[in-house]
Amino acid sequence: MRQFEKRILCIGAGHVGGPTMAMIAARCPQYEVTVVDINAERIRAWQTDNLPIYEPGLLELVRSARGRNLFFSTDIEEAIDDAEIIFVSVNTPTKTFGEGAGKAADLQYWEKTARTILDASRANKIIVEKSTLPVRTARAMERILNANHRNIHFEVLSNPEFLAEGTAVEDLESPNRVLVGSSDTPEGRAARNAIVDIYAHWVPRERIVTSNVWSAELSKLAANAFLAQRISSINSISALCEKTSADVAEVSRAIGMDSRIGGGFLKVSVGFGGSCFRKDILNLVYICESYGLDEVARYWESVVSINEYQKRRFVKTMTNEMFNTVADKRIALLGFAFKKDTGDTRDSPALVVARRLIEERAIVVISDPKALANARADLSDAPPGRVVFEQDPYLAARGAHAIALLTEWDAYRALDYEKIFDSMEKPAFVFDGRNLLDHEALYRIGFSVFPIGKPPLKQS
Ligand code: NAD
Ligand code: UGA
Repeated sequence: MRQFEKRILCIGAGHVGGPTMAMIAARCPQYEVTVVDINAERIRAWQTDNLPIYEPGLLELVRSARGRNLFFSTDIEEAIDDAEIIFVSVNTPTKTFGEGAGKAADLQYWEKTARTILDASRANKIIVEKSTLPVRTARAMERILNANHRNIHFEVLSNPEFLAEGTAVEDLESPNRVLVGSSDTPEGRAARNAIVDIYAHWVPRERIVTSNVWSAELSKLAANAFLAQRISSINSISALCEKTSADVAEVSRAIGMDSRIGGGFLKVSVGFGGSCFRKDILNLVYICESYGLDEVARYWESVVSINEYQKRRFVKTMTNEMFNTVADKRIALLGFAFKKDTGDTRDSPALVVARRLIEERAIVVISDPKALANARADLSDAPPGRVVFEQDPYLAARGAHAIALLTEWDAYRALDYEKIFDSMEKPAFVFDGRNLLDHEALYRIGFSVFPIGKPPLKQS
């Protein structure tokens, strides 16, 4: 059997655990990297070429290391016992019950993992928080783990993940920074160096930043809050643009050219989605409230409120413009994923739009290149006959009164909109929730076009 220099384990084979460990295994062939999960189906999928998540370049990355030094398993206890370094990347959703429901992080998976680690370990280990967690969770983890009478020491570090879905492989290959938070003790510094050494195999040293544990935990929440805040800021301006005939694309270009502001993350949309922004901001809000920082909590909460407003506003424009009723009208939703290049639909704005249209008794036809299976699961409780799933966008639009573009898939730009127009009911509407399409061209074809934050192009 081959001897590896180090044995690394990741608990949680999801959107973060799978890709990050695949990258570590690919760049560090001398380390054995094992990924475990309680979900046997997920683990089975990681062992095939039909991976459980879609990310450009991920299959190639996984295949480059799988079976060599990258392994997927459900034997969690054995893997824990074998490993020297354990990354924990389980989900940390928003709590839906009890104290803090709707805001606080639900740490039950996290704590269960800590107890499993404790039970299965027979030697000292480095535990790395990869999941996004409330600030000071490492302290709780350390208390649970080190309350053992077996003389085993667990050193807990924070190494939050900053990858974005759809670009996970790229982000892992060339991260803006890697952050490692540790205690300022001899054990803490040794553990920190061990983690830094892993990344230093492919990440330039100057991009590997170290800090104390609490700063690392809080930096992750703050980074997501700042990113989401930019989107809510530009989306709030889009509402004003629509009232004043200003064009949000021009505004965003003009302000983004100020190097102090920067141009990234200023793309207007139907609202931000994804499994993390709302969850992490609400978690930040809850933490602020629990320290009595109510003004700070309200400030960050407004980022989420504006996002909810943007989604509501989008559907309201649709119903208003379609003669105040969408009842029994077929409406094609182009895109259901929360962003392009992923099949993930968690907290997708498309889900809110679909549900509101269903409430208005529309017949919603959902099309997406990668997210239809998730969309079906998300809308499994929809009333019969109200939702249709159709992979082919041309068939989705056939007989529809309107198209709502909700995910910025590149393929939607290249569709033959003349052909689509011909197959639709008239008047035909396009509501572009991503400002992706050529609005003038659509108008010339005969559509009434409603972008976000720009004057509409209405047929008379
Ligand atoms: P995910 O739901 O895709 O994956 C989590 C996995 O953990 C699941 O497969 C689940 O079965 C497994 N799991 C739960 N409890 C377990 C246990 N006790 N033992 C073994 N496995 C267990 O979640 P994700 O998107 O990978 O997110 C994980 C964490 O990373 C979250 O805290 C999230 O906030 C953070 N994060 C996510 C992203 C992202 O792009 N999705 C980016 C950065 C950080
Ligand atoms: C985001 C962060 O970008 C990652 O750094 C972080 O690691 C991750 O959350 C996480 O913690 O889970 P992700 O949600 O995968 O990544 O994708 P983003 O590219 O950030 O997009 C989030 C949402 O904002 C999408 O719905 C996207 O369409 C929307 N968005 C993004 C806009 O509406 N406008 C923009 O300018 C950018």
